Amino acid sequence: MDPGPPVIRLAVFGQPVAHSLSPRIHAEFSRQLGLRIDYRAIEASPRSFPERVRELAAAGGRGCNVTVPLKHAAWTLATRRSDRAARAQAANTLLFEGDIFADNTDGQGLVNDLLSLPGGRIAGARVCLLGAGGAAAGILAALLQAGPDQVVVANRTVARADELVGRHVDLGPVQSCVPGDIARQAPFDLLINATSHGHRGAAPALEADWFSPGGLCYDLNYGEAAAPLQRACSAAGIGYSDGLGMLVHQAALSFTLWTGRKPAIAPVLEGLRQRDKGA
Ligand code: ATR
Repeated sequence: MDPGPPVIRLAVFGQPVAHSLSPRIHAEFSRQLGLRIDYRAIEASPRSFPERVRELAAAGGRGCNVTVPLKHAAWTLATRRSDRAARAQAANTLLFEGDIFADNTDGQGLVNDLLSLPGGRIAGARVCLLGAGGAAAGILAALLQAGPDQVVVANRTVARADELVGRHVDLGPVQSCVPGDIARQAPFDLLINATSHGHRGAAPALEADWFSPGGLCYDLNYGEAAAPLQRACSAAGIGYSDGLGMLVHQAALSFTLWTGRKPAIAPVLEGLRQRDKGA
Protein backbone atom coordinates (compact mmCIF):
# COMPACT_ATOMS: atom_id res chain seq x y z
CA MET A 1 0.00 0.00 0.00
CA ASP A 2 1.28 3.50 -0.87
CA PRO A 3 2.07 5.23 2.46
CA GLY A 4 1.44 8.63 0.78
CA PRO A 5 3.60 11.68 1.27
CA PRO A 6 5.63 11.83 4.51
CA VAL A 7 4.12 13.78 7.39
CA ILE A 8 5.57 17.29 7.81
CA ARG A 9 5.89 18.11 11.50
CA LEU A 10 5.12 21.71 12.42
CA ALA A 11 3.86 23.70 15.40
CA VAL A 12 2.89 27.12 16.67
CA PHE A 13 4.43 28.28 19.95
CA GLY A 14 2.84 30.97 22.12
CA GLN A 15 1.59 31.78 25.61
CA PRO A 16 -1.37 31.46 25.58
CA VAL A 17 -1.73 29.49 22.34
CA ALA A 18 -4.92 27.43 22.67
CA HIS A 19 -6.92 30.18 20.88
CA SER A 20 -4.58 30.18 17.86
CA LEU A 21 -6.22 29.82 14.44
CA SER A 22 -2.93 28.66 12.90
CA PRO A 23 -3.50 24.87 13.29
CA ARG A 24 -6.80 25.21 11.43
CA ILE A 25 -5.35 27.44 8.69
CA HIS A 26 -2.39 25.15 8.03
CA ALA A 27 -4.62 22.04 8.08
CA GLU A 28 -6.71 23.67 5.34
CA PHE A 29 -3.63 24.60 3.30
CA SER A 30 -2.32 21.04 3.47
CA ARG A 31 -5.72 19.61 2.49
CA GLN A 32 -5.82 21.90 -0.56
CA LEU A 33 -2.40 20.71 -1.68
CA GLY A 34 -2.64 17.02 -0.77
CA LEU A 35 0.14 17.28 1.83
CA ARG A 36 0.17 15.56 5.22
CA ILE A 37 1.07 17.75 8.18
CA ASP A 38 1.09 17.32 11.92
CA TYR A 39 0.73 20.95 13.16
CA ARG A 40 0.38 21.36 16.92
CA ALA A 41 -0.21 24.33 19.22
CA ILE A 42 2.45 24.21 21.95
CA GLU A 43 2.39 26.51 24.95
CA ALA A 44 5.82 27.74 26.05
CA SER A 45 7.16 30.54 28.22
CA PRO A 46 10.05 32.68 27.00
CA ARG A 47 12.22 30.53 29.33
CA SER A 48 11.08 27.11 28.12
CA PHE A 49 10.76 28.11 24.46
CA PRO A 50 14.35 27.31 23.28
CA GLU A 51 14.14 23.80 24.74
CA ARG A 52 10.70 23.14 23.20
CA VAL A 53 11.95 24.32 19.80
CA ARG A 54 15.00 22.07 19.97
CA GLU A 55 12.74 19.13 20.91
CA LEU A 56 10.59 19.75 17.85
CA ALA A 57 13.63 20.02 15.57
CA ALA A 58 15.18 16.86 17.10
CA ALA A 59 11.90 14.99 16.51
CA GLY A 60 12.20 15.71 12.77
CA GLY A 61 10.17 18.93 12.76
CA ARG A 62 10.36 21.10 9.65
CA GLY A 63 9.73 24.42 11.43
CA CYS A 64 7.27 26.40 13.46
CA ASN A 65 5.28 29.57 13.82
CA VAL A 66 5.82 31.78 16.81
CA THR A 67 3.33 34.15 18.36
CA VAL A 68 3.10 36.50 21.34
CA PRO A 69 5.15 36.74 23.54
CA LEU A 70 7.89 34.66 21.89
CA LYS A 71 8.68 36.47 18.64
CA HIS A 72 11.73 38.23 20.02
CA ALA A 73 12.93 35.01 21.68
CA ALA A 74 12.59 33.24 18.31
CA TRP A 75 14.73 35.87 16.64
CA THR A 76 17.35 35.49 19.40
CA LEU A 77 17.37 31.70 19.13
CA ALA A 78 17.99 31.60 15.38
CA THR A 79 21.39 30.99 13.86
CA ARG A 80 20.42 32.66 10.55
CA ARG A 81 17.89 35.44 9.90
CA SER A 82 16.18 37.00 6.90
CA ASP A 83 16.73 40.74 6.52
CA ARG A 84 13.09 41.42 7.45
CA ALA A 85 13.38 39.36 10.65
CA ALA A 86 16.67 41.07 11.50
CA ARG A 87 15.09 44.50 11.12
CA ALA A 88 12.03 43.54 13.16
CA GLN A 89 14.22 41.87 15.82
CA ALA A 90 11.35 39.41 15.88
CA ALA A 91 10.45 36.21 14.02
CA ASN A 92 7.05 34.62 13.44
CA THR A 93 8.49 31.67 11.48
CA LEU A 94 11.39 29.30 12.06
CA LEU A 95 12.71 26.78 9.52
CA PHE A 96 14.85 23.85 10.67
CA GLU A 97 17.40 23.00 8.01
CA GLY A 98 20.51 21.88 9.84
CA ASP A 99 20.42 25.24 11.59
CA ILE A 100 17.53 27.44 12.74
CA PHE A 101 16.53 30.05 10.16
CA ALA A 102 14.29 32.91 11.34
CA ASP A 103 11.91 34.78 9.07
CA ASN A 104 9.13 37.26 9.65
CA THR A 105 6.21 36.94 7.23
CA ASP A 106 3.89 39.33 9.11
CA GLY A 107 4.77 42.43 7.08
CA GLN A 108 4.53 40.77 3.68
CA GLY A 109 1.31 39.14 4.86
CA LEU A 110 -0.09 42.58 5.63
CA VAL A 111 1.07 43.99 2.28
CA ASN A 112 -0.41 41.05 0.34
CA ASP A 113 -3.72 41.44 2.15
CA LEU A 114 -3.83 45.22 1.65
CA LEU A 115 -3.18 44.80 -2.07
CA SER A 116 -6.03 42.29 -2.30
CA LEU A 117 -8.56 44.74 -0.81
CA PRO A 118 -10.70 46.88 -3.13
CA GLY A 119 -8.80 50.15 -3.59
CA GLY A 120 -5.98 48.89 -1.34
CA ARG A 121 -2.62 50.37 -2.30
CA ILE A 122 0.66 51.21 -0.63
CA ALA A 123 2.78 52.45 -3.53
CA GLY A 124 2.67 56.26 -3.44
CA ALA A 125 0.43 56.29 -0.36
CA ARG A 126 0.81 58.34 2.81
CA VAL A 127 0.78 55.84 5.67
CA CYS A 128 0.49 56.34 9.43
CA LEU A 129 1.69 53.41 11.54
CA LEU A 130 0.16 53.74 15.00
CA GLY A 131 2.33 51.98 17.61
CA ALA A 132 6.01 51.09 17.82
CA GLY A 133 6.00 47.82 19.76
CA GLY A 134 6.52 44.27 18.55
CA ALA A 135 3.55 44.28 16.16
CA ALA A 136 4.68 47.50 14.44
CA ALA A 137 8.28 46.28 14.22
CA GLY A 138 7.13 43.14 12.40
CA ILE A 139 5.59 45.06 9.50
CA LEU A 140 7.63 48.22 8.92
CA ALA A 141 10.25 46.77 6.56
CA ALA A 142 7.66 45.23 4.23
CA LEU A 143 5.60 48.43 4.26
CA LEU A 144 8.57 50.54 3.19
CA GLN A 145 9.56 48.03 0.51
CA ALA A 146 6.07 48.40 -0.99
CA GLY A 147 6.96 51.98 -2.01
CA PRO A 148 4.83 54.39 0.03
CA ASP A 149 5.20 58.16 -0.36
CA GLN A 150 5.77 58.46 3.41
CA VAL A 151 5.37 56.36 6.56
CA VAL A 152 4.86 58.23 9.84
CA VAL A 153 5.31 56.05 12.94
CA ALA A 154 3.22 57.60 15.72
CA ASN A 155 3.76 56.34 19.24
CA ARG A 156 2.99 57.48 22.77
CA THR A 157 6.62 56.78 23.75
CA VAL A 158 8.38 58.63 20.97
CA ALA A 159 11.81 57.21 21.85
CA ARG A 160 10.49 53.78 20.89
CA ALA A 161 9.26 55.13 17.53
CA ASP A 162 12.62 56.86 16.98
CA GLU A 163 14.47 53.63 17.60
CA LEU A 164 12.23 51.67 15.22
CA VAL A 165 12.52 54.34 12.53
CA GLY A 166 16.31 54.38 12.96
CA ARG A 167 16.48 50.67 12.10
CA HIS A 168 14.49 51.18 8.88
CA VAL A 169 15.45 54.59 7.59
CA ASP A 170 17.55 53.19 4.72
CA LEU A 171 14.49 51.37 3.32
CA GLY A 172 12.39 54.42 2.47
CA PRO A 173 10.81 57.68 3.67
CA VAL A 174 9.94 57.09 7.32
CA GLN A 175 9.73 59.41 10.32
CA SER A 176 8.40 59.34 13.87
CA CYS A 177 5.97 61.51 15.81
CA VAL A 178 3.75 61.45 18.90
CA PRO A 179 0.02 60.75 18.42
CA GLY A 180 -0.72 64.42 19.24
CA ASP A 181 1.11 65.40 16.02
CA ILE A 182 -0.79 63.08 13.67
CA ALA A 183 -3.28 65.80 12.70
CA ARG A 184 -0.40 68.00 11.52
CA GLN A 185 0.99 65.17 9.35
CA ALA A 186 -2.44 64.25 7.92
CA PRO A 187 -4.11 63.39 5.61
CA PHE A 188 -3.23 59.71 5.30
CA ASP A 189 -4.40 57.18 2.72
CA LEU A 190 -3.79 54.37 5.17
CA LEU A 191 -3.60 54.24 8.97
CA ILE A 192 -2.46 50.93 10.50
CA ASN A 193 -3.33 50.20 14.10
CA ALA A 194 -0.42 48.29 15.65
CA THR A 195 -1.17 49.30 19.25
CA SER A 196 -2.32 46.87 21.93
CA HIS A 197 -5.48 48.82 22.87
CA GLY A 198 -7.74 46.18 21.30
CA HIS A 199 -6.55 43.51 23.75
CA ARG A 200 -7.96 45.65 26.57
CA GLY A 201 -11.28 46.19 24.80
CA ALA A 202 -10.33 49.73 23.76
CA ALA A 203 -9.45 51.60 20.57
CA PRO A 204 -6.86 54.30 19.91
CA ALA A 205 -8.37 57.76 19.42
CA LEU A 206 -8.60 58.75 15.77
CA GLU A 207 -10.29 61.45 13.71
CA ALA A 208 -12.05 61.21 10.37
CA ASP A 209 -10.11 64.23 9.05
CA TRP A 210 -6.81 62.36 9.41
CA PHE A 211 -7.85 60.38 6.33
CA SER A 212 -7.80 61.35 2.68
CA PRO A 213 -11.00 60.58 0.69
CA GLY A 214 -11.27 56.79 0.41
CA GLY A 215 -8.64 56.37 3.15
CA LEU A 216 -8.53 53.11 5.07
CA CYS A 217 -7.90 52.17 8.68
CA TYR A 218 -6.28 48.72 8.81
CA ASP A 219 -6.31 47.01 12.20
CA LEU A 220 -3.73 44.29 12.88
CA ASN A 221 -6.28 42.84 15.30
CA TYR A 222 -9.06 40.45 14.37
CA GLY A 223 -11.91 38.83 16.27
CA GLU A 224 -12.91 40.38 19.59
CA ALA A 225 -9.80 42.57 19.83
CA ALA A 226 -10.82 44.26 16.56
CA ALA A 227 -14.36 45.14 17.65
CA PRO A 228 -13.68 48.49 19.43
CA LEU A 229 -11.83 50.09 16.51
CA GLN A 230 -14.24 48.64 13.96
CA ARG A 231 -17.10 50.29 15.87
CA ALA A 232 -15.23 53.61 16.17
CA CYS A 233 -14.45 53.68 12.43
CA SER A 234 -17.97 52.77 11.50
CA ALA A 235 -19.33 55.60 13.70
CA ALA A 236 -16.87 58.10 12.16
CA GLY A 237 -17.44 56.95 8.56
CA ILE A 238 -13.86 55.72 8.15
CA GLY A 239 -13.17 52.68 5.91
CA TYR A 240 -11.96 49.78 8.04
CA SER A 241 -10.40 46.34 7.65
CA ASP A 242 -9.48 43.92 10.40
CA GLY A 243 -6.31 41.82 10.23
CA LEU A 244 -7.82 38.40 9.54
CA GLY A 245 -6.63 38.52 5.91
CA MET A 246 -3.11 39.36 7.09
CA LEU A 247 -3.24 36.33 9.39
CA VAL A 248 -4.02 33.99 6.48
CA HIS A 249 -1.49 35.64 4.16
CA GLN A 250 1.34 35.46 6.70
CA ALA A 251 0.48 31.81 7.32
CA ALA A 252 0.62 31.09 3.57
CA LEU A 253 4.10 32.64 3.31
CA SER A 254 5.31 30.49 6.22
CA PHE A 255 3.73 27.40 4.64
CA THR A 256 5.57 28.10 1.39
CA LEU A 257 8.87 28.48 3.24
CA TRP A 258 8.43 25.03 4.83
CA THR A 259 6.94 23.14 1.88
CA GLY A 260 7.78 25.06 -1.30
CA ARG A 261 4.03 25.06 -2.12
CA LYS A 262 1.67 28.05 -2.45
CA PRO A 263 -1.79 27.62 -0.94
CA ALA A 264 -4.87 29.56 -2.07
CA ILE A 265 -5.89 32.26 0.41
CA ALA A 266 -9.51 33.04 -0.48
CA PRO A 267 -11.23 29.77 0.53
CA VAL A 268 -9.46 29.69 3.88
CA LEU A 269 -10.24 33.33 4.64
CA GLU A 270 -13.85 32.84 3.60
CA GLY A 271 -14.11 29.81 5.95
CA LEU A 272 -12.79 31.87 8.87
CA ARG A 273 -15.21 34.74 8.14
CA GLN A 274 -18.15 32.33 8.03
CA ARG A 275 -17.02 30.87 11.35
CA ASP A 276 -16.92 34.40 12.85
CA LYS A 277 -20.47 35.04 11.66
CA GLY A 278 -21.65 31.76 13.16
CA ALA A 279 -20.00 32.51 16.51
P1 ATR B 1 2.86 44.29 20.68
O1 ATR B 1 3.91 43.21 20.71
O2 ATR B 1 1.45 43.79 20.62
O3 ATR B 1 3.15 45.35 19.70
P2 ATR B 1 3.91 46.01 22.72
O4 ATR B 1 5.30 45.76 22.21
O5 ATR B 1 3.65 46.05 24.19
O6 ATR B 1 2.90 44.95 22.17
O7 ATR B 1 3.42 47.40 22.05
C1 ATR B 1 2.18 47.94 22.34
C2 ATR B 1 1.99 49.22 21.54
O8 ATR B 1 0.74 49.82 21.88
C3 ATR B 1 3.05 50.26 21.84
O9 ATR B 1 3.25 51.06 20.69
C4 ATR B 1 2.37 51.07 22.96
O10 ATR B 1 2.86 52.39 23.11
P3 ATR B 1 4.16 52.65 24.03
O11 ATR B 1 5.35 52.20 23.24
O12 ATR B 1 4.13 54.12 24.28
O13 ATR B 1 3.95 51.83 25.28
C5 ATR B 1 0.96 51.11 22.43
N1 ATR B 1 -0.01 51.35 23.51
C6 ATR B 1 -0.47 50.46 24.40
N2 ATR B 1 -1.35 51.04 25.25
C7 ATR B 1 -1.43 52.35 24.89
C8 ATR B 1 -2.17 53.48 25.39
N3 ATR B 1 -3.01 53.38 26.41
N4 ATR B 1 -2.01 54.67 24.76
C9 ATR B 1 -1.16 54.78 23.71
N5 ATR B 1 -0.42 53.76 23.20
C10 ATR B 1 -0.57 52.56 23.79
